[in-house]
Amino acid sequence: MKIDGVPDAGSAKSVFEELPPNCTFENKHVLLIEEASIPVGVIDLVIGYPNSKVAFIGLLVLDEKYQGRGLGKRSYEALEDYIRQFSIDSIQLGVNDTNEIGMLFWPKMGYKLQGRTRINQGIKVTSNVYVMEKNLIPHVFHAPMILRPIDESIQPVEVVDGKVGNHFRSIY
Ligand SMILES: CC(C)(COP(=O)(O)OP(=O)(O)OC[C@H]1O[C@@H](n2cnc3c(N)ncnc32)[C@H](O)[C@@H]1OP(=O)(O)O)[C@@H](O)C(=O)NCCC(=O)NCCS
Repeated sequence: MKIDGVPDAGSAKSVFEELPPNCTFENKHVLLIEEASIPVGVIDLVIGYPNSKVAFIGLLVLDEKYQGRGLGKRSYEALEDYIRQFSIDSIQLGVNDTNEIGMLFWPKMGYKLQGRTRINQGIKVTSNVYVMEKNLIPHVFHAPMILRPIDESIQPVEVVDGKVGNHFRSIY
């Protein structure tokens, strides 16, 4: 979707139709964000752009009435988990400098300016688009920790002055 300062009914449709260079609709994922079964937003994602190890977020947008109460952060976290199912090392996106909330939101989600910028020449608005990037550090999966009551017959012990004593008795 282009920021050009002019509301355009075709913009919503273009989310489903636009593809970056050298991509097919196999790369493209248009995702509905639901909160308690209510549709609250949309994500446009391209897996494998600009190269096979990168995912590109074209758009993450929440219905205005659901903004500013933590849903954006939760939606982003769900999106990052979704992206992890593909063999992806980093995620990129472009933010218009006219989008003040976007410029604050993405760094908060761990994104850093990547250095590349381009000019977006809209009908009414001209803006700079900043490319931001986040490296996906692999999750480390541990076996789940299990806590269970200690069986009375297994008394924790400690050695005090060479004698075996009851750990709890020595504390209380
Ligand atoms: C950007 C967007 C997805 C963020 O979702 P959100 O639910 O409004 O944001 P959250 O409430 O989850 O806030 C997460 C962080 O973003 C920043 N943020 C969000 N709204 C903000 C605001 N109005 N002013 C300043 N910072 C804001 C804050 O750093 C916040 O963290 P904090 O609450 O710990 O300070 C949402 O506002 C939106 O859809 N905007 C319109 C579309 C858009 O600009 N998308 C991004 C470009 S693709």
